[in-house]
Amino acid sequence: MKREIITTGDGSKTIHMPEWNEQYHSKHGALQEALHVFIEMGLKDTLSRKREQTSPISILEYGLGTGLNAMITAQFPTEHSIYYTAVEAFPIAVSEAVEVNYGQLLGNQVLYEKLHQCEWEQAVQLTDQFSIEKLEKKFDQINDVSRFDIIYFDAFGPRVQPELWTVDIFNAAFKALKPEGILTTYCAQGQARRNMQEAGFIIERLPGPPGKREMLRGRKMT
Ligand SMILES: C[S@@+](CC[C@H](N)C(=O)[O-])C[C@H]1O[C@@H](n2cnc3c(N)ncnc32)[C@H](O)[C@@H]1O
Repeated sequence: MKREIITTGDGSKTIHMPEWNEQYHSKHGALQEALHVFIEMGLKDTLSRKREQTSPISILEYGLGTGLNAMITAQFPTEHSIYYTAVEAFPIAVSEAVEVNYGQLLGNQVLYEKLHQCEWEQAVQLTDQFSIEKLEKKFDQINDVSRFDIIYFDAFGPRVQPELWTVDIFNAAFKALKPEGILTTYCAQGQARRNMQEAGFIIERLPGPPGKREMLRGRKMT
């Protein structure tokens, strides 16, 4: 499918797919969406609940894409070690990573290059605190059990890929989370929310990033 680079409302770039009229991030601002949905409502929420200051945080991302969420997580200042697992079935080309240029935007070109150049299918330490395991597979192949504190659920929207927002997909995500774990997503669609609830999540409807009224966070209560 054709992909082209566009500039979003906050000046950061993203990938646009004309055939679907869909982007990898919000047209209103790629960086501000990622910071709001995944860092503010995801990582920071989890850190505020961790009593043990040194316990590691495990994150599973649905859709590595350009690596923007991984980058801002790697750069987040924390004492906790972060183990990041990113699933992606269709990795972007090196030329696309160069063009979206998040290394320059976030002031660490070396880290961004390492993120894209490191081996797949194995855990790689990228900074003192942050390691990543990139897995080239489909979301419906995720079968982890009680492994993650946070899921960054960043699939394309249900308008274009409804098959990624089903009860089955959310059942697997729920299983993959530790007790008290959270799934955070930019999406606020009613059917997606009901499917998350059917899988067992307790849902919060939260204010969305600029340009979007709402987003969802699901919690695995025990
Ligand atoms: C919204 S984009 C992810 C954006 C990404 N988090 C970022 O920061 O750039 C959705 C991603 O899901 C991937 N994808 C689509 N269908 C998939 C599937 N069935 N299994 C795994 N990955 C898939 C796409 O290739 C794309 O990279």
